[in-house]
Amino acid sequence: MEKKNIDWSSLGFGYMETDMSFVATYRNGAWEEGKLVKEHTITMSECACVLQYAQTCFEGLKAYTTEDGKIVCFRPDLNASRMADSCRRLEMPVYPEDKFIEAVEAVVKANAAWVPPYGSGATLYIRPFMFGINSVIGVKPADEYQFRILVTPVGPYFKGGAKPITITVSDFDRAAPHGTGNIKAGLNYAMSLHPIMEAHRNGFAENMYLDPATRSKVEETGGANFMFITKDGKFVTPKSDSILPSITRRSLMIVAEKYLGLTVEHREVYFDELKDFAECGLCGTAAVISPVGKICYKGGEINFPSGMDEMGPVTKKLYETLTGIQQGHIEAPEGWIKVIE
Ligand code: PLP
Ligand code: COI
Repeated sequence: MEKKNIDWSSLGFGYMETDMSFVATYRNGAWEEGKLVKEHTITMSECACVLQYAQTCFEGLKAYTTEDGKIVCFRPDLNASRMADSCRRLEMPVYPEDKFIEAVEAVVKANAAWVPPYGSGATLYIRPFMFGINSVIGVKPADEYQFRILVTPVGPYFKGGAKPITITVSDFDRAAPHGTGNIKAGLNYAMSLHPIMEAHRNGFAENMYLDPATRSKVEETGGANFMFITKDGKFVTPKSDSILPSITRRSLMIVAEKYLGLTVEHREVYFDELKDFAECGLCGTAAVISPVGKICYKGGEINFPSGMDEMGPVTKKLYETLTGIQQGHIEAPEGWIKVIE
């Protein structure tokens, strides 16, 4: 199979149409057989539930080319089960988890030419999503849905790749207590558009959101969880019911403990503690691990000792181990790597 003629190393995190998407329809109380389609546009009623009441959720994972030329993806079973959680919370029908994994496999295979080569710095981003498509005007769930998967080759989420970024602390909250912060609902991202544009207008790459109840604890950013390294080398990551259970973060907790022998603390993290940490990073599928060098907030700034030139040393080891596992040159824990072809 010949790869597409793309300058893979110059890709940013953007969308381009590839050959095929996957689509399955839920109608009359059941999922119909899904299929691969060449069409990348959707026609729907102006009154579709997704347009009126934002009944939509999504997932994000990646396919990688390994050193020996295989195409693999990373822990798709966890994306399948997190999407099922999102669907249940939004009164949407669950797309069966085994079928989800089969669909990921089918759509990646069909777009093998778009999976960036090993060592190019790019990956194939896989975006499963679901939405209520029939018309509703009273506030209620739809009764027809589409589950789709699009794929698109991507480079680093933040310009500059592994260069540390500067972030700010948002005055807005990301998620209410007992709200939808722990699922991947489109509405969580709609609410983040104004804060992220404000952050960009003020020269920051991202927002840190604090816990909405007390605004004293660190939650996450609009698209990644936080990880910190203490001065004595512990891995610390925030625990909260209103943040998304990041698959990258859950994997890093295992990598930190089992591969690097670090002590791992998954606990509430107070904003006041941050000044004592040595390193800070954002972790997620899109972000991978993006180092944070500085946090600016009203009345001050925190400059992590790791600085603004490169990743801190422990973050770098975590990054190299995680991406080594994902790209097949470090042995993965049982069940983490799904070989597609
Ligand atoms: N937090 C939010 C709000 C996200 O959108 C994402 C991205 O999926 C993450 C965290 C990271 O999660 P994961 O590592 O599963 O991609
Ligand atoms: C991902 O990392 O897959 C996400 O969905 C985050 C998004 C901000 C791109």
